[in-house]
Amino acid sequence: MHFRILLASVVLVPVLAAAPVSGEAVYQQRCAGCHDSGSPRVPPRDELKKLSATRIQRALDFGVMNNIASKLRQEDRMAVAAFLGTAAASGEPPAKAYCADRSVKLSNAPRVQWNGWSPGLTNTRYQSGEAAGLTIDQVRRLKLKWAYGFDGDIVAFAQPTVIDDNLFVGSASGVVQALSAESGCIRWVFQAGGPVRSAIVAMPVEGRHSLFFGDTTGWLYSLEAESGKLLWKKRPEAHESTRLTGAPVAYQGTVYVGVASWEESRTTNPEYPCCTFRGSVVAFRAKDGSQIWKTYTIAEKPRQTGKQWGPSGGSVWSAPTIDPKRGLIYITTGDNFSPPATNMSDAVVALELATGRIVWSKQTTPGDVWNTACSQQGGGCPGPDHDYGSSVLLGKAESGRDVLLAGQKSGVVYALDPDRKGEILWQVRVGKGGINGGVQWGMASDGPRVYAATSDVARGGANPDPLDPGPLPLDPKQGGGLTALRVDTGDKVWYTAPAPCGARPGCSPAQSAAVTAIPGLVFSGSIDGHLRAYSAEEGRVVWDFDTVRDYQTVNGITGQGGSLNGPGPVIVNGMLFVNSGYARNGGMAGNVLLAFAPEQ
Ligand code: HEC
Repeated sequence: MHFRILLASVVLVPVLAAAPVSGEAVYQQRCAGCHDSGSPRVPPRDELKKLSATRIQRALDFGVMNNIASKLRQEDRMAVAAFLGTAAASGEPPAKAYCADRSVKLSNAPRVQWNGWSPGLTNTRYQSGEAAGLTIDQVRRLKLKWAYGFDGDIVAFAQPTVIDDNLFVGSASGVVQALSAESGCIRWVFQAGGPVRSAIVAMPVEGRHSLFFGDTTGWLYSLEAESGKLLWKKRPEAHESTRLTGAPVAYQGTVYVGVASWEESRTTNPEYPCCTFRGSVVAFRAKDGSQIWKTYTIAEKPRQTGKQWGPSGGSVWSAPTIDPKRGLIYITTGDNFSPPATNMSDAVVALELATGRIVWSKQTTPGDVWNTACSQQGGGCPGPDHDYGSSVLLGKAESGRDVLLAGQKSGVVYALDPDRKGEILWQVRVGKGGINGGVQWGMASDGPRVYAATSDVARGGANPDPLDPGPLPLDPKQGGGLTALRVDTGDKVWYTAPAPCGARPGCSPAQSAAVTAIPGLVFSGSIDGHLRAYSAEEGRVVWDFDTVRDYQTVNGITGQGGSLNGPGPVIVNGMLFVNSGYARNGGMAGNVLLAFAPEQ
């Protein structure tokens, strides 16, 4: 029987292949369900149309759409890419974009750096005065020095790492580049297999330097920093839906990475048997990528009950935090994707650095079972989707005590005691909370204070075009704000309301991007496209730059600024670097990395 069917299809295939494939038909069958759904997590069709066909093809063949495209034949992929995308070539940078001297020189004791998600292992996103090299007066005089464009991209979501004059940055098309921090000229480029949104971390390894980063198709890479050559590449988790979003951390010859997943959104397909992914943190030997330990955030393996599988979820979205004094590594976790709820979802977890053994965990929202189908069907899941999207900060209060600071999508900031199994010292609400935060990508702390930006992004109003199937526009009146809290007590020191949006289409005052602090100043980017510097003392805005405009980029492509979301600014050696563009959740598209220095 089987044999006969096979034979029949051999005869049929050439006939089918001869008929031209309609890209539009493929789009309607395979893509529209998500891309026309209005789901805030999916870029709408209008945004996809701005990408080059080559770029869309790459997303299907190697990128974030690979799991969906794996069911499609190559000619279907080509047809849908050609139907959606522009004819623009996304190719090699022009020769003049490269530095005259293309050597990358790194010392083992760099004079200044911002290496990874935060300048140091504590994830406080605080740069000392000496390393920052910017005073309030100089910040007032910051001017754009150069702009670098990510060719064909609609999001710029990877935070740069800067070590002396070397800047390393990933991109949505998976191109990783080594640039001169001073001028933005290119020293080398490396093509990863998927979008790189994680920050890159560097570490000396056997006389040279290695760079580590993850991509959103689940691969962890090690490159030689000096040459951009691939040293090794590993999948920390075999599950096909794995994605790496949080930056790895490198400490004493070991690389630690948190593991997250796309499986939550697979449930937009009602046939999908949700869910089997479990979040984890994994330690690798830096020199060869061999695994030292791996610890899941959910101990039990998922089992099948009826159509569903569980427990699942507990993604680790952000960079782990290292506590050398206590020999611990801290992670934060997301929700469960399917029942049963487990006790380490939406939690701060402390593990032994050497072994990965869980020492304690503090769950702040129990019973949070949620996946993307919940928001579409309007119920059936308890939710409320209050993941931790950001790292826990290991801060030092004025009193001298160590305090763990965790900001959750619920809109609550927690202070935990690292010496008493994460016991809650205080908790303060800084936002209403929701699917896109609350506190979304990260806070900063200069010691005495912690600075928490509020997202609370919301949609509202009427859709301007009745035939537009896209998501409702962002509500220009809801979200945003920056709060300074005293680390010792949780007392509010100041609150600065968001700037009003004005008439800009697609504007939201929400502040979801990660916050950065230097002595005397706090920086917070907004979905409205502005980067603002606030005085740490009283929260007054002392500098404001609107990134939404076109740029002449140093690499010769047309650059465009958009929403600021995801990473925060990186400040090193008298310069400030920030990404602009985030066509997700209704935000404004953009594809630039901007570098500022004070006007002389
Ligand atoms: C199950 C839902 C789903 C389906 C079906 C789907 N997509 Fe997507 N797509 C997404 C999501 C979610 C993202 C955003 C990923 C991210 O955050 O980077 C995305 C992103 C993309 C991107 C941007 C990738 C990048 O590199 O920035 C392209 C291009 C794309 N999809 C094309 C397609 C095409 C073509 C199809 C049909 C063959 C398709 N998608 C089907 C959910 C889907």
